[in-house]
Amino acid sequence: MFNSDSHFKVFDSKIWLSSPTMHGSEMEYVKEAYETNWMSTVGKNINEVERLACEKIGCKYAVALSAGTASLHMAVRLAGVKHGDKVFCSDLTFGATVNPVVYEGGVPIFIDTEYDTWNMDPEALQKAFEMYPEVKVVVMVHLYGTPAKIDELKAICDKHGAVIIEDAAESLGATYKGRQTGTFGKYNCISFNGNKIITGSSGGMFLTDDEEDANKVRKWSTQAREDAPWYQHEEVGYNYRMSNVIAGVIRGQFGYLDEHIAQKKAIYERYKEGFKNLPVLMNPYDADNSEPNYWLSCLIINDDAMCKQVRGECESLYISEHGKSCPTEILETIAKFNVEGRPIWKPMHMQPIYRMHDFVTKNGSGRANTNAYIAGGSCNSRIFDAGEDIFDRGLCLPSDNKMSSEQQNIIIEIIKSCFC
Ligand SMILES: Cc1ncc(COP(=O)(O)O)c(C=O)c1O
Repeated sequence: MFNSDSHFKVFDSKIWLSSPTMHGSEMEYVKEAYETNWMSTVGKNINEVERLACEKIGCKYAVALSAGTASLHMAVRLAGVKHGDKVFCSDLTFGATVNPVVYEGGVPIFIDTEYDTWNMDPEALQKAFEMYPEVKVVVMVHLYGTPAKIDELKAICDKHGAVIIEDAAESLGATYKGRQTGTFGKYNCISFNGNKIITGSSGGMFLTDDEEDANKVRKWSTQAREDAPWYQHEEVGYNYRMSNVIAGVIRGQFGYLDEHIAQKKAIYERYKEGFKNLPVLMNPYDADNSEPNYWLSCLIINDDAMCKQVRGECESLYISEHGKSCPTEILETIAKFNVEGRPIWKPMHMQPIYRMHDFVTKNGSGRANTNAYIAGGSCNSRIFDAGEDIFDRGLCLPSDNKMSSEQQNIIIEIIKSCFC
């Protein structure tokens, strides 16, 4: 293993996981908002980003909001989730997928992950409906920009009369059978936060084909004001609308979405080629049916090439071993060279806040596995569900589209050195 005094040089400026890439036109639209004095949550930039999103994604209505999380919250509310209602949610994801269910008093039940796309496992979802036939809402994500097994998941939801909320926060521009993600659920959400494929520094969007639902989100997101000469309120509202200044940044970014995807794809392909002799695989996708946006390149280490790694609640340890490595070793090593990676999202069923919630794998189970090590087993007897296994063996690689191929080649060599 190399460290920072090895023959690799520490990068002068940090190589980020995924940082904003600006082009100049963003500033023109921000300036326009300033000069026309539409420094507000109304204005031309907002109208334009909503139009551009509908045009690109192929949905009828888009409502620009302050964050992807806000759009997920609006979706959960529209889906009618009430206090105590169980909702099936992707397990391997960012907490923002799930938290809006709790805002409305719903109870997330986590559905395990499959290995083909690292998304919600249709077999586990089917099992979950057998266990909880009363569930009527499913929140599913397209992790790291890779479309889930949408047809299978949708067929199961249709069979059980459940509505899909599609969390396409990470997958803007990705397609499944030629159709954009963000069009498969009844309610769909995207994010423009600072690390996304295009960004406004923050921001999100609610997408739907239903005009009435879009109008409800417009109303709720601006404090639910009724049509009256004064401020009249009949229901709870939120201050969730996007700023016209942020919308200016997103408006400028939209024209670069395809360029960013092409750059991210090239990064993914370079890693794949660079790691071909290592005992690792890249984050997989269904090449016959889908085209990811390649937002983050990730890898997963073969089970038999994992050195010993122990993760506590907030700390991690490993024992370096010849020919083997682990995410902790790789992340710590690249960090020494001023390179940012990240662990895979820690599954929701392992999170202290959610670990007492039910969790369904394709084998049933119905209870979160809170302990990765079986009592009475040896310390090598690791019992994992798929999500926990991917978290254990996987990591997100630096995927910044400003990283040069020379820089990436050095990072590949640094990672290879972890297995020496
Ligand atoms: C999967 C997923 N869902 C939801 C969100 C929330 O989006 P935002 O940060 O815009 O609220 C994010 C990104 O942060 C995300 O990665």
